[in-house]
Amino acid sequence: MYNPALLGGSHDAADSEVTLRGWVYNWRKKGKLRFIILRDGFGYLQCVVFQPEVADQVWEAAVALTQESSLEVSGVVRAEERAPGGFELKVTAIEAIQIAPEFPIGKKDHGPDFLLNHRHLWLRSKKQHAVMRVRSELEFAIRDFFQSRGYTLIDSPILTPAACEGTSTLFETEYFGDKAFLSQSGQLYLEPAAAALGKVYCFGPTFRAEKSKTRRHLTEFWMVEPEVAWLRFDGLLDLCEEFLSAIVARVLDRCAADLERLERDTSKLLPTTAGSFPRLDYADAVARLRELGSDIRLGDDLGGDDETLLTAQFDRPVAVTRYPAAIKAFYMQPDPADPSRALAVDVLAPEGYGEIIGGSERSDSLEHLERQIAAHDLPREAFEWYLDVRRYGSFPHSGFGMGIERCVAWICGIPHLREAIPYPRLINRLNP
Ligand code: 4AD
Ligand code: MG
Repeated sequence: MYNPALLGGSHDAADSEVTLRGWVYNWRKKGKLRFIILRDGFGYLQCVVFQPEVADQVWEAAVALTQESSLEVSGVVRAEERAPGGFELKVTAIEAIQIAPEFPIGKKDHGPDFLLNHRHLWLRSKKQHAVMRVRSELEFAIRDFFQSRGYTLIDSPILTPAACEGTSTLFETEYFGDKAFLSQSGQLYLEPAAAALGKVYCFGPTFRAEKSKTRRHLTEFWMVEPEVAWLRFDGLLDLCEEFLSAIVARVLDRCAADLERLERDTSKLLPTTAGSFPRLDYADAVARLRELGSDIRLGDDLGGDDETLLTAQFDRPVAVTRYPAAIKAFYMQPDPADPSRALAVDVLAPEGYGEIIGGSERSDSLEHLERQIAAHDLPREAFEWYLDVRRYGSFPHSGFGMGIERCVAWICGIPHLREAIPYPRLINRLNP
C-alpha cells in the first residue's frame, strides 16, 4: 500500500500536522463521522472528520464534498492499523476548492466504450493510475538501459516521404502540394545514424493504419528502436534478452505497489528476468505449432492464435528466428545458409501477449537492397539517401523495435492495449 507521497515521502509523518491538496476519491459516513479518501495523484489517505471535534463550518464543508471534488485539508497524521496504508488524517480544517457535480464514472460497471469516451476522467481510477505509473517507469528503464550502455538518442522524424514497414498500413497526409506519410518506424533514419555514432536508439510515436480491430493493435503507438553498428544476428538475440530481462526486473523492483494494485501475479514475470530465452528456428516453430493442432504451413506468418499457442509452451519470452524473407520487410539480411530466409527475429511474450519485439540484421549489400526495393514496389527515389549507407562504408548492423504498449500490457496483465496508453488511438477511436 502506498501513501508516503501524501505524507511527505516518509512514515515519520505520524503525529505531525499537515495540509494536503487533492480530490475526493471516495467517501462514506457513519453517525457523526465522515471518512474521506483523499487522492493526490501519488497515493490515497483516509481523512476522518468527527463532528463533535471540529468547528461547524468544517463539518458542513465535509458534508458538502462529493466524489472528485477538489479540496485542501489540514489535520494530524495518525497511525491507524485499520486505515488503508496504515495511516489516517484526523481532520481539523477543510477548504473545498470546487464541488464536483455527479462524477460520470461511478461504482457500477461501465462498458469499455463508455470508459474510453471518458478516458480523460477514467485515468483517475486506481487501476489506470497504476498502469500509467508502470508505463512511465518502463519508459524510464528503457532510456536508462540504452543511455547507460553508451547509446545516443536519435529522434527520428514523424513526417516521412516513404514506407518502412509495408505500404498497406501507411497514414498519408497532404504536404504542401506533395504527399507525406506518418512514420511507421524510425529505423531507416537510425541506420545512417549508427554509422555516425555506433550505437543509437530512437523512442517516439509511430503510426500504422491497421485495419485490424484486435486487442493487440493501436493506430498510434510508441516504439523504442536500438540500432547497433557491427552487431550481427546472434548478438542481436543476446541484446533482446538482456534488454527485456533488465527492464522487466526494474519495473518489478520499482512498481511493486502498482502491480499489486493491478493484482498482477508477478511470479509469472520472474522467469523473464533470468536473462535467457528459448530460441526457436521458424521451421521448428511451424512444426511445433502443427503438433499443437495449428494448420499453419511453412511459408505462412504466425497468426495471433499461433503466437498464443506457441508461447503457452514457455514461462518466458521465446525468440522465433529466421523467417521466410518473403513475409518480412525489404531491408533484412538474407540468411547466408539459406537466402530464402531472413535474419529476422520476433520475440513473443508469454501468457498470450504475442509479438513484442521485431528485429533483424540489416542487409549491407547495395545490390540486394536495390532488388528488394524493386520487388516490394517501393519508390526508388525516396530511398536513395538510405542506400547511401551501403555506398559509403557499408557495415554489418542490426536492430529491433519494441512497441511499448505491448510490453506495458504484458507486465500489467491487462488484456487490451487500449489501457496501456494514456489516450488510445484505434481504428474507430480518435477521441478524447
Ligand atoms: O515488427 P515491426 O513492424 O518492426 C518494425 O517496425 C521495425 N522497423 C523495428 C526495427 O527493427 N527497428 O514493429 C515492431 C514492434 C512490434 O513487435 C510490436 O511490439 C509493435 O512494434 N507494433 C505495434 N504495437 C501496437 N500496435 C500496432 N499496430 C503495432 N505494430 C507493431
Ligand atoms: Mg513485426
